[in-house]
Amino acid sequence: MAIIFNAVTNEFHLFNDDISYIIKIHPTGELMHLYYGKHLDHRDSFSHLHPLYEKSYVCYPNQGCRELSFDALRREYPDYGRSDYHEGAFSITHENGSIVTAFVYDSHTIYSGKPPLMERILPATYVDDAAKAKTLVIKLIDNISGIALYLQYSIFSEIPVITRSCYFFNEGKTTVNLTTAMSLSVDFEDKEFELLQLSGAWARENQIINTPLRYGYQSIGSTRGASSHQCNPFIALKRPTCTERSGEIYGFSLVYSGNFKAEVFLNYLNQPRLTMGINPHNFQWILQPGAEFQTPEVVMVYSDTGINTMSQTYHRLFNEHLMAKTMRDAMPPVVVNNWETTYFDFNEEKLLEIAQTAVDVGVETLVLDDGWFENRDDEESGLGDWNIDYAKLPNGLTGLAKKLDIMGMGLGLWIEPESVSPKSTLFQEHPQWVIQSPGRKKSLGRNQYILDFTQPQVIEYIFQKMVKIFDLAPITYLKWDMNRNITEPFSASLAKNQQGEFMHRYILGVYSLLNRLTQKYPKMMIESCAGGGGRFDPGMLFYAPVAWASDNTDAMARVQIQKGTSICYPLRSMGCHVSSVPNHQVGRYCRLQTRMDVATFGAYGFQLDISTFDKAKRQTIQENIERYKGMRDLLNTGNFYRVDTGCENITAWMLVSKNQANVVLGVYECLALANPPRQMIKLEGLRPDYTYMNMETETMHGGDELMYRGISFHDESHYYHNEDMLKNIQQLGAGDFTSKVLFFKAVVEENVPV
Ligand code: DGJ
Repeated sequence: MAIIFNAVTNEFHLFNDDISYIIKIHPTGELMHLYYGKHLDHRDSFSHLHPLYEKSYVCYPNQGCRELSFDALRREYPDYGRSDYHEGAFSITHENGSIVTAFVYDSHTIYSGKPPLMERILPATYVDDAAKAKTLVIKLIDNISGIALYLQYSIFSEIPVITRSCYFFNEGKTTVNLTTAMSLSVDFEDKEFELLQLSGAWARENQIINTPLRYGYQSIGSTRGASSHQCNPFIALKRPTCTERSGEIYGFSLVYSGNFKAEVFLNYLNQPRLTMGINPHNFQWILQPGAEFQTPEVVMVYSDTGINTMSQTYHRLFNEHLMAKTMRDAMPPVVVNNWETTYFDFNEEKLLEIAQTAVDVGVETLVLDDGWFENRDDEESGLGDWNIDYAKLPNGLTGLAKKLDIMGMGLGLWIEPESVSPKSTLFQEHPQWVIQSPGRKKSLGRNQYILDFTQPQVIEYIFQKMVKIFDLAPITYLKWDMNRNITEPFSASLAKNQQGEFMHRYILGVYSLLNRLTQKYPKMMIESCAGGGGRFDPGMLFYAPVAWASDNTDAMARVQIQKGTSICYPLRSMGCHVSSVPNHQVGRYCRLQTRMDVATFGAYGFQLDISTFDKAKRQTIQENIERYKGMRDLLNTGNFYRVDTGCENITAWMLVSKNQANVVLGVYECLALANPPRQMIKLEGLRPDYTYMNMETETMHGGDELMYRGISFHDESHYYHNEDMLKNIQQLGAGDFTSKVLFFKAVVEENVPV
């Protein structure tokens, strides 16, 4: 890995073994983008990669330099207004109303390691060891206004990752208004791409959607005040021929939890321009002299070996360089969460019963969900006061935690710190603490308002409340929920001309509270949640290494949600629970084994009362939890593969240990087929020269055989419509919604380093 500056050609070449990124400073001081993609050997010059020539019907800002038209140039961080007719990556309104800004090169610094962002509470990837990354910071200056722009690039040594962000600093004498400040802009050289996005809705998060590029703008984003169920802050440009296993893909993931936008503009030269960052919709930031603004970070991942390699890179990066240092090596505990079991209707006795049967089968933590505080028997009231409901918990959290501790069970707690019910003392006493626009009605969502986290006193109050609660009992796990989006955005604490800062300041407020809490309770595992995956993003993962992937706990729906989520996020970050049947969201009956086989590929847990199961079923659950504990390490450090099954009805995925000796394969069939055709599932990532034992059947298989020939999902029992099958449908695992989890282990031979 290196960042080379060629002072003769004025080119920067950032590269590691996999990727190259090349920038040139034009003699006028403009930054040109020369290349981003597969590694190029370093050369004396790369300037030929961007020949400049005069074009027809274009304008050019520099007299005597007709070939430098910004409309045609591939640019690093483009402005609007000086012959580039795309929407700019940034926009500044100057004191005199002008919107023209001309940033030109001033200086640069290259150093080892990766510094935190200037706004330190903004989450970002990090390295523990300076040898793991190099950073380039290019300073540009607008000579008229004195505004400085710092473009920051970090390249990682061992993974095909470059992160980008930028930072505006008003070194001038007048106040300016920043109305767009994207984190990056990347110009590509040809249009042969599809756009991959993760979109959906509540209970249908992260469906994989591919769209061909077309001329003009294509964008995804959120204006909800949260990254959203509808569009995850991730986008990729992939070649139309790119598959899971082969071809080029460029991933872009925004480390941010608020309003965002990712956009591709395909211009008349077939040069797509991708921008990503805070959504400019209603955004503005007042930059007074001496003030600064830091954009969130974008993580760019390149792969020329398919989508799956890109996913593996994101998984590794987020596991090793994003999640809180204090938490990243600790796997989340196996939990039992009482939500779908009891909803608001529980008491200590019921919780202890749930906990006792759960601990008996190996569950480690009881997560006490919504409803443990006063006036919370439904969604109507109670949020904001956070006083223990002694009618439900006569011994309080302290007593409950003690009893759980005796059982050998940890206590986790649900809280929704950002919300308040209209029927609460907090709201009665501080009505001005909720988000509202003067003189207008406040919209309700789930019967609640959102607290104005741009007001420091509001955060202070909630922080003190949380500390008071957490100091009552050893709470080892926190579920931080958020169940509605922002409406009537406005803050009484911000000046008239600062209201455009509201949405970003809100999310900075959320981060600042998370920052204080994680510093005070570094060992507390935080699971973030926003009605399921409404804020499942890298920004939250930085503070909360688990995210509740979806309120939809149906196993078949979850297969698609977890598969989509795995495009960008590591398995250990996905909260996945086994719930009861009929499923509460879709009414489907999936057998217990299938439900466990799906949830086991994530941060595992249960949302059902195990005491309702007979002895044999409890035994099965216990065995499955043991199985999960045995594969935890793989979940944390193994490579994940989405396996091509050749049909939509069957989904398969697998985990392979780094040394390729331990393998877990999960296969899920949605609808049973009569007389099913043979469907071969070819395993991935094994060593062809290893021999693997199927741990269930104890049969031996060559790694080459498993990968090149594969295995068949259907066994004999599916081929015949027989009496036996009908009588023993559960045991045989036949019918709809079936699954298999198979373990393979490399058999140690001489000279084979397993
Ligand atoms: C929404 C979450 O997604 C659920 O898991 C549960 O915690 C409820 N909120 C509680 O109100």
